[in-house]
Amino acid sequence: MDLQVFSAVVWAERVAAELAGRLAARPSLRLCLPTGDTPSPVYAAFLGAEARGEVSLGAAAVVMLDEWVGLPAGDPARCDVRLRAELLDRLQTPPASFAAIEVDGPDPEEAAGRHDRAAQGLDLAVLGLGMNGHVGFNEPGSAPDDPTGLVRLAVSSREAAVARYGATRVPTAGITVGLARLLEAGECWLLVTGERKARILRRALEEPEGPDCPASYLRRHPRLTVFADEAAAGLLRRG
Ligand code: PGA
Repeated sequence: MDLQVFSAVVWAERVAAELAGRLAARPSLRLCLPTGDTPSPVYAAFLGAEARGEVSLGAAAVVMLDEWVGLPAGDPARCDVRLRAELLDRLQTPPASFAAIEVDGPDPEEAAGRHDRAAQGLDLAVLGLGMNGHVGFNEPGSAPDDPTGLVRLAVSSREAAVARYGATRVPTAGITVGLARLLEAGECWLLVTGERKARILRRALEEPEGPDCPASYLRRHPRLTVFADEAAAGLLRRG
């Protein structure tokens, strides 16, 4: 595992610059992207770099990390809506493809199966860390060999859809790229900011791996990079 700690002031710019570096090395990058408060400033910094002509997603394939089930198309809390609003619709050049999770059809299980195929062969999986140790919607109880699937959500996650993201109703479930696909990706990044994440980051990285903290399984990944700001890294043993 590689732990990269930056001050909060430069954190988003540094992560965006890392992403630009990966795209320069492989323009056709297949990358899985999250939504959330953590990646938002990275996307803003990335848009700045794109506007300056320093980077492009034009040849890249973007795969959505997770999605609520039970929210109508266009709901402000939907992950596809938010990723489009914060990044995709604001790019000068859109990605070559965007695989949203097709939760609007009658059969979420089938949608999960289709998305499992979309999430195979990722070059890079970018993840946030939930306060309960989830990554994507791989909630506590998830297993490292879970494929992309339809999952029950923790109550805290369902409530967050309304309280934090303004969902018009409480979602019933989620679909998430599974830990198996994340662990198979060529590279995996865990983005973590803020003092409130310090304890769960220590749990994820320094205590024995286990299903109570799905993020702890990411340590199995041979190319895991944790990008933390100073506050989130504050409880880690370092050096
Ligand atoms: P956040 O969410 O980036 O908004 O803190 C992370 C998560 O719960 O997965």
